Amino acid sequence: MERRQILVTSALPYVNAGIHLGHMVEHLQTDFWVGFQRLRGHDVRYFCGDDTHGTGTMLRAQREGREPEALLAEMEAEHVADLVGFGVFHDHYGSTHSPENEALVAEFWAALRAKGHIAEREVTQLYDPGAGIFLADRFVIGGCPRCKAEGQYGDNCEVCGATYEPSDLIGPRSAISGAVPEERSHPHLFVRLESFHEFLEEWTQSPGRVPPETANWLKATFLAEPLRDWDISRAAPYFGFEIPDAPGNYFYVWLDAPVGYIATTKQWCDANGAKLEDWWCNPKSEIHHFIGKDIAYFHTLFWPALLSVVDYQLPTAVHVHGFLTVNGEKMSKRKGTYVLARTYLDHLSPEYLRYYYASKLSAKVDDIDLNFDEFIQKVNSDLVGKVVNLASRTARFVAGEALPDYPAEMDEGLFAAGAAARTEIAEAYEARDSNRAMRLVMALADRANEFVESREPWNLKKDETRQDELRAVCAIALNLFRQITIYLAPVLPRFAEASARLLSIETETRWEDVTTPVVGHEVAKFKHLMERVDPEKVTAMIEASRESAQPSETGSAASSEPGEALAGEPLEPECTIGDFSKVDLRVAEILEAKAVPKANKLLELTLSLGGSERCTVFAGIKKAYEPEQLVGRLTVVVANLAPRKMKFGLSEGMVLAAGPGDSELFILSPDTGAKPGQRIR
Ligand code: MSP
Ligand code: ZN
Repeated sequence: MERRQILVTSALPYVNAGIHLGHMVEHLQTDFWVGFQRLRGHDVRYFCGDDTHGTGTMLRAQREGREPEALLAEMEAEHVADLVGFGVFHDHYGSTHSPENEALVAEFWAALRAKGHIAEREVTQLYDPGAGIFLADRFVIGGCPRCKAEGQYGDNCEVCGATYEPSDLIGPRSAISGAVPEERSHPHLFVRLESFHEFLEEWTQSPGRVPPETANWLKATFLAEPLRDWDISRAAPYFGFEIPDAPGNYFYVWLDAPVGYIATTKQWCDANGAKLEDWWCNPKSEIHHFIGKDIAYFHTLFWPALLSVVDYQLPTAVHVHGFLTVNGEKMSKRKGTYVLARTYLDHLSPEYLRYYYASKLSAKVDDIDLNFDEFIQKVNSDLVGKVVNLASRTARFVAGEALPDYPAEMDEGLFAAGAAARTEIAEAYEARDSNRAMRLVMALADRANEFVESREPWNLKKDETRQDELRAVCAIALNLFRQITIYLAPVLPRFAEASARLLSIETETRWEDVTTPVVGHEVAKFKHLMERVDPEKVTAMIEASRESAQPSETGSAASSEPGEALAGEPLEPECTIGDFSKVDLRVAEILEAKAVPKANKLLELTLSLGGSERCTVFAGIKKAYEPEQLVGRLTVVVANLAPRKMKFGLSEGMVLAAGPGDSELFILSPDTGAKPGQRIR
């Protein structure tokens, strides 16, 4: 087998948000493939980095009163720690905000200019006169022109799904300053994509470049008509690279982001005495990008177009995966299913998710669902029940002994069959069909377990005269186990290492090791290789995700440029009319109010909800009101809140108040004329 030289990337995560289990689909899929190629002995480099530029980064740094660079450094450290926590190690994790990237972007730019691919035109956009900034669609908020829902973004309505221009909003406001935006125009620079039409058609439609689903989608959606010019400049202020020959204008984040793949490689090369040309200008070098479907057109249209004007080579393939849903739905902060990588790692072993994702992922662009019941069941029954079990019920009979010559005559052809499976399993991994690879491996585990059950080593143990047979059965089981752990190594490298230690194997594992039984090695004392998933820990993780679901100011930040698909979760868990109607808000009269002696902040309120309906509420407004001020007042209460048992008694609702807290809290009152018990609609 010829040794391949392979450069692999995962999409560069936005610097503004934490890595979540959706991102992990991609990083793990990439890591499985990288691990497989390494196990096969190929020369692999795996690069990633943070995608840093854009208005979002600038605004967040301003809000936090620090330089963007400080924000970048902090987020990068977090991202790397999360990825490493899941066992994902890159040869280099870079950043698009680097001198190497700036220089490369300038190279691309010079080539685009020189070859006449750039056009200039005025663009009219909404402008925030207070903040002095042009507003991308997601930074304009107002009423939906179709259904009139309030608080919608400038590109589409989350209530009725309408799409429109920001200027169509009713009463548009800047999300940055709240100012009423005005229309202004400014010259923008465009890449004339249409001049690449033929090339892109040819490139995207040739087999193996992009998944067939993506190729068809591109053909039907974009390539069927002239390609529209791509607006790649943004007026100052913008956090990014200034355009060399257009001062006061910056490259749009999506221009410099993919160039970041090359810049990261360059940084690695410089640090390791390698040459960039060997990786990016070398027909022997394969380049594989792993991405999600939401950013497919950037990688399959814009990126190849950019690459075609410079001397760097086109990707060998762009591998596209679908989106993660959790328990059948989009990840939701409210439901605790928007799980950050860190929160997961605080509760559960990374190996569980690695195996679960491997068992779900294929070469298809389909979405994949993380179903927690299935997650628990699959890990417990496959990994613990089948794989670990194979070792745990045989290793202990031979602990401290050397493995005998392999008793092939006794193994019913299992080892040979296991070795023969390597071609099929390798094909599945190569094609990123880890679902198929896992099924093939579990079938081997099933057969190995059947063998052990039929030979009943636990009974052999009791019979003095059959100790050689016992040893042989264990040697067979442990060698089958060894084969299985090699096949699982791309997915479960840590587990594979621990398993190798069980058989005192010191050398680095290679794929072809599945063909040679281990002989003469001492079997170590059996240590637990993997625990069952504790369902309570899954519940605790979901609870922790609910709590950590702060109203995010980060999620949308960098992904809020026009034409940019929103990845992951929008700003806030959305509340539909249906959700809202679940809340029983009522006018209530405060009948009694008294301080709770041992609590700093609580008043105990007795409320009338009309007629004889009463309820007790503990409200944290002690520092803002004297109890007697409140008696007789009308206020607004959430009447159907699940009752909460507190130290001082049962709280049966919630009184609504505004303000930052403590002495600055203002309870809501209805207008004159409202009566206790009236429902708020
Ligand atoms: N910064 C861009 C990529 C630039 S690459 C030159 C970006 N960043 S992202 O943080 O939003 O997403 C990074 C990757 O994670 C993307 O490939 C995206 O598709 C993937 N995912 C983000 N949320 C995801 C899910 N919920 N499910 C699966 N993949 C998801 O896009
Ligand atoms: Zn609407």
